[in-house]
This record gives sequence, C-alpha cells and structure tokens, in this order.
Amino acid sequence: MNSKEQIINNTVLYVQRELNNAEGGHDWFHIERVWKTAKHIAAEEEADPFIVELGALLHDIADAKFHDGDESIGPKKARAFLETQHVDSTTITAVENIIQYISFKRSYAAAVYQSPELDIVQDADRLDAIGAIGIARAFNYGGFKNRKLYDPAIPPAEYQTPEAYKKNEAPTLNHFYEKLFLLKDKMNTATGKKMAEERHLFMEAFITRFYKEWNGEA
Ligand code: ADP
Ligand code: NI
Repeated sequence: MNSKEQIINNTVLYVQRELNNAEGGHDWFHIERVWKTAKHIAAEEEADPFIVELGALLHDIADAKFHDGDESIGPKKARAFLETQHVDSTTITAVENIIQYISFKRSYAAAVYQSPELDIVQDADRLDAIGAIGIARAFNYGGFKNRKLYDPAIPPAEYQTPEAYKKNEAPTLNHFYEKLFLLKDKMNTATGKKMAEERHLFMEAFITRFYKEWNGEA
C-alpha cells in the first residue's frame, strides 16, 4: 500500500507524462495551477483533501474535445491508473465522478452528482478560466482554432445545447460574454467566490480597454 503522499507524487508524474503534448491551455501547467488553487480552497472548506488533489490532478487527463467528444475516456483512464496505485475503491469512484461532472458543458443538464470535492475542483478549474490567466488561455485557444480576436458584426450568442456551444466558431472576444463573465456567479464555494471577484474585475477592465484601443480612443 502506497502512502497518500507517494500516490500524489506518482499521479503528478503520470499526468506530466500523459499531457506531454497537450495544447497550451490544457497542459501540465494548467493542471498544476488547478491543483494549487484546489488545495488552497480545500484548506478553507470541509472536504477530503486527498480526493480533491487527485481530482484536480486527473480532471483533464483525457479531454473529450480531443477524443471525438468521448466523455467516458477520462474517468476510465483515471480509474485504471489509480488501481495501479492500489487506491481504495470509494476514493476512485469519487475521483471518476469529479472528472465526469466537472465540465462546463454539463451545467446545461441538471446536476446529477454533487460532492464537496467536486465543488472545489470545479471552482479551481473555473478560476483558471478567468482573470489574467483566463484571458491568456482564451486567446491561446482562439489562436489554436484560428479564430478572429473580435468582430463587431458577430454578437455574442446564447447556445441552447452543448453541441451548439462546441460547434460555434465565433471570435474569441465573444467567449467572454458566452462563458467567462458568467463564471463568477457559478462558483460553488465561499472561498472560490471570493477569489473570482478580483479576476472578474480584471477581465472587465481588459475588455473596456480593448474596445477603447479598437476604436483608436486610447
Ligand atoms: P476546462 O477544460 O479548463 O474546463 P475548456 O476545455 O472549456 O475548459 O476550455 C479550456 C480553455 O480554453 C479555457 O480557458 C476556456 O476559456 C478556453 N476556451 C474554450 N472555448 C473557447 C472559445 N470558444 N474561445 C476562446 N477560448 C475558449
Ligand atoms: Ni481544466
């Protein structure tokens, strides 16, 4: 039986290896930031820190976006890895559920699984999508998809289905209205909510300035 500390260390090595070729917004450093933020939140909330850490480390182990939309690969890969570490089955199931239910797309459907550990990892993942890092990731993703920065003729939309959201090819600036500005009100934990506030204000300041510069006003 490995100690929890050994299991976390082995998980770090496993995730680093698996995400070796991941695109910039979803690379090891995204995982490391989410892991640190999740630990920070967990220290202030009631939750099992071991499940939080494993969930944070493994949450993007196989993003459905890069596996033809198959959302079952991530939980399965995490289970197979954790079994090699002889992690108990209750913990494995809790981690699988975090990976399965964390995605923003799932919030289109009624929540069918809840846990304090999922709340924390989801907050940490959402925090990495806003603020200065969130801005950097959005434009990195837009570049990866060859999207325009902004187009005044294409207004932000409200997508009714996860498919419509996934298929859209709108300019990156629209993503702020379609997702990033909505995240602060979706935070689950008190600590997460507090952390989201400053990041949100920073994005608002960025957008205000973006339009000024766009229009040659500043
Ligand atoms: P995560 O896996 O971190 O929950 P996503 O896979 O939805 O989030 O997105 C990864 C990163 O790419 C996030 O920072 C997100 O804001 C950004 N992103 C996703 N879709 C778009 C988009 N259409 N335009 C710009 N950025 C996007
Ligand atoms: Ni993530």
